[in-house]
This record gives sequence, structure tokens and C-alpha cells, in this order.
Amino acid sequence: MKIGIIGTGYVGLVTGVCLARNCKHDIVCIDINEEKIEQLKSGICPIFEPGLKTLLLKENSEENGYLNFSTSYFDLCDRDMIMIAVGTPQRENGSTDLSYILDCGKQIAQVITKDTYITIKSTAPVGTADKLKNIIDDVLADRNLEYPINVYISSNPEFLKEGSAIEDFLNPARIVIGADDSESKERLLTIYQDYKDKCFCTDVKSAQLIKYAANSFLATKISFVNSLIPYCEQNGINLQDVVYGMGTDPRIGDKFLKPGPGYGGSCFPKDVASLCYEIQSTSSSYEILDSVNLINRRSKHWPITKVIDEFYDDNTGKLKPITVAIFGLAFKPYTDDIRCSSSIDCIVDLIDFDSSTTIKVFDPLSKTYDALKSYFERANIENNIIYSDDAYDAAYNADVIIVMTDWPQFLALNMNKIKCLMKGDVFIDSRSMFDYDYMSTMFNYYSIGKPHKVK
Ligand code: NAD
Ligand code: UGA
Repeated sequence: MKIGIIGTGYVGLVTGVCLARNCKHDIVCIDINEEKIEQLKSGICPIFEPGLKTLLLKENSEENGYLNFSTSYFDLCDRDMIMIAVGTPQRENGSTDLSYILDCGKQIAQVITKDTYITIKSTAPVGTADKLKNIIDDVLADRNLEYPINVYISSNPEFLKEGSAIEDFLNPARIVIGADDSESKERLLTIYQDYKDKCFCTDVKSAQLIKYAANSFLATKISFVNSLIPYCEQNGINLQDVVYGMGTDPRIGDKFLKPGPGYGGSCFPKDVASLCYEIQSTSSSYEILDSVNLINRRSKHWPITKVIDEFYDDNTGKLKPITVAIFGLAFKPYTDDIRCSSSIDCIVDLIDFDSSTTIKVFDPLSKTYDALKSYFERANIENNIIYSDDAYDAAYNADVIIVMTDWPQFLALNMNKIKCLMKGDVFIDSRSMFDYDYMSTMFNYYSIGKPHKVK
């Protein structure tokens, strides 16, 4: 099939590359970001995602030729299906900003010359399909066409995770097809012909709610576990063991039960907020997700409470002058995405609490530093930050280390060396990734979800 994909971010690019590769569809990916499209045309991958660059180079090659990139909406005119995969960020009141999706609609409507099938791959609330159709119909009406053009909108939400996006796309748990007309459904089933047994067909609105309900439920699992942290700490209970004992029940499952410094990333926070907003604006308050959100904000403070426990100076009401080393900046390992990263929130909150704190940061994907620098400049805290070349460099002279992202590389660090390099001995492991007994003999070790052993 001839498929047009709008937006070459995590979802659009991965979808394009994978549909070209596995299903041998003819793909054109459109983006308004000219620099990105130029990079993609020359085989440069603008985001880090394991396996993506290799596939991009392969599928982009002349002999394959199934994957093309463009900034022109005219290249969408001959497509059997157009997939919209642009951002749907959160507005201040929690609602979803649909302007990117609606802009796509306006631009599609300016160029199409025949009946057109559009599917929304972006995460967008119930009602978005109607809004998109209305905008497209308005522009088509303004064009004073001699013949009518019909536009059919469906929903095909995406469930990939960053860090394993290619793997998730190629091995989906399910593919949700939300269509209110039979032709859209048939076309989507043809696109996913290699995954027929994974396709679940429903109507447009249900498909859109499936996406929000799935993300919100996963976020709820995380917040449920995180809500037990204070109680476990006060009573010397090992939450890791509790979670193991719960998760082995197949009705509960062991996934998304890992305690941590709150969920981050470009999706859970905004999707929880959006579902809350939608439900609250149409019916009543939605206590479950309000609590999930609140617990998440509290969970993000876990590392800071430990720093305060250790370094608060009663005389000044501030922290003692300290250097903090932060291991990990991305919201999860195997990505360079720092959107809504708990690590960044922790850094900002630490400096907010005491502006004299020095923070040394290290992330294995140091490419994130570019995005970070401009973020810290905007927040006016750039002067507090020192960018480190590696974890040892970050540990040098630090009073405290805080592990914020569970990069597996950190497990290979020589802890004797780390300890010798540090000025202090406080080690805050907010991902509980290290050996508890060993680390407790080496450091004043705080491991999330485990009792604090006093050395
Ligand atoms: P992203 O921010 O990485 O990429 C969006 C791209 O769309 C950008 O390259 C931008 O330049 C482009 N764009 C914006 N407006 C455009 C327009 N009018 N025409 C053409 N291009 C335009 O976004 P993302 O992370 O891929 O997320 C996209 C959507 O998919 C969101 O709704 C998100 O919630 C959802 N989603 C994301 C993930 C994920 O892991 N990131 C997973 C599942 C679903
Ligand atoms: C999430 C969903 O898992 C995907 O299915 C969905 O498609 C995507 O959102 C989306 O809609 O964008 P993603 O945000 O990439 O994927 O990453 P996750 O692995 O879900 O992690 C999200 C956050 O939860 C991270 O900050 C992670 O550290 C945290 N987390 C995850 C925990 O704190 N504990 C866990 O047990 C699992």
C-alpha cells in the first residue's frame, strides 16, 4: 500500500521504517522540520532508539526504496492511507493540545484531490476525529471544488515504548484498529497484514479510549507501588520483596511494579492528565487518576528527602554546601529523551531548595546535554550545573551520588573507585539497581523500597 506518515518523531519514524521493512509498503514520511528531513534523507537518525539507525540506513537505500522523506504535503496526494503521528502535548489545565493534529488536517485538505483515508496514530482524546473531519471539510468547502471529496478518519493508536520501540512495533501485543467505516478498517487490516492475528477492530472512540486507559492503568500500577514507599520505610518493610510477592500472582503480573522516583517521559504524565481532564469535564471528578498524579509528584521528591535528611543545616535552614552527582538524565534507559524526566525535576527542585548546591551530571547518552543546556539556561540554573564526561568524573569530589536512571552500564562501575573519588559517602539509589548488602557495607546507602541500614 502507499502510506503517508506525518511526523517523524519516535512514533512516525519507527512506524515508517518498520512498515517499509516488514510489510514492504511504499512509505513517504512528512515533517515540517526541514533540518530533520534533510538529516533523514542522508541517513542521519535525529533520535536515539536502539536499532533504528541501522534499519533507517537499510530501508532508505536505493535498492530498497520503500522509504522516502519529504517536507511537502503534495507527496501525500496519491496515498491509500495517511497516518498522523505528530505530538499531542499537555496544556496547562491538563487538556490535550490538538493544534498539531488540526494543522495536519488543514494542510492535507489543501492538497488532496480524491477521497482520502486518514488514521490518527497520535494519542488523542475521544472527539478528535470529529474535530479533524470538521476542519478538513471546512477547508475543502473553501476550495470550491467541482466535485466532492470525502474524508474518512480512523484511529490506530500506538503502544511502543521508547528504548525498545522497534522491538515493540515489530512484536506488538495487539494492534488496535478503530474505524467507523468498513473501507478504513479494510485498509488498516491490509497495512498490518503480517499481524492479522494481533489486530483488534473496534470503533474510533473506543480505540482512542483504549490508548488512554492502557497508559493510565500502567501509571496507576507504578503509583500504587510508590504509594507504599513511606509506609514501608517507616516500618522497616522490604517493598521489593512485597512487590515480588504480589507480582508472581498472574492476575497482578510483575510488570510496571518497580518502585522509583515517579514515572516520567513524554506520555504517562500528559496522558494521565488528559484522561482526568476529559472525564472531569464531561461527568464528575476522577479520584483514581487525581491520586495517581499526586502520588507521582510526591514520588519524584524521594531522592530530595534523603538529601535533606543527610545534609540539612538547622542553623541556616538550608543545605550544607554540597556537591551532588546525578547519574542518569533520561526518563528511562536506552533513550536520549529528557521530556518530563524525574532526573531533571530532581535537579531543578534541589537547586530550588538551595541555590548554592552544585550539581554534576552524567548520562551515557551525552547527546542529551545539548537539550539540557538550553533547558537549564531557560530555568536560570545553568551556573549550578557541571557536565561530566563519565560517572567517575561526576563522582569526583561529590558528597552524594543520586542514581536517577537505571542504565545497566552503571552496574559495571567500580564502586571502590567511586568511593575513593567521592568526598562524602552518601549513595541514593532511586532505582534500587545495586546489590543492597554490598552497597550498604561501602556507602551510606539508600535504596528505594528497601530499609535504610545505618552503617
Ligand atoms: P515527537 O515530538 O517525537 O515528534 C513529532 C513530530 O511531528 C516532530 O518531528 C514535528 O516536527 C512533527 N510535526 C509537528 N507538526 C507537524 C505538521 N503539521 N506536519 C508535519 N510534521 C509535524 O512525537 P512522538 O513522541 O513521536 O509522539 C507522537 C504522538 O504519538 C503523541 O501523540 C504521543 O503521545 C504518541 N505516542 C508516543 C510514543 C512515544 O514513545 N514517544 C508512544 C506511543 C504514542
Ligand atoms: C509508555 C508505555 O509503556 C507505552 O506502551 C506507550 O506506548 C507509551 O508510554 C506512550 O504512549 O508514549 P514509555 O513512556 O516510552 O512508554 O516508557 P515506559 O517504559 O512505560 O516508562 C515510563 C516511565 O515509567 C519511566 O519513567 C519509567 O522509569 C517508569 N517506570 C516504568 C517505573 O517507575 N516503574 C516501572 O515498573 C515501569
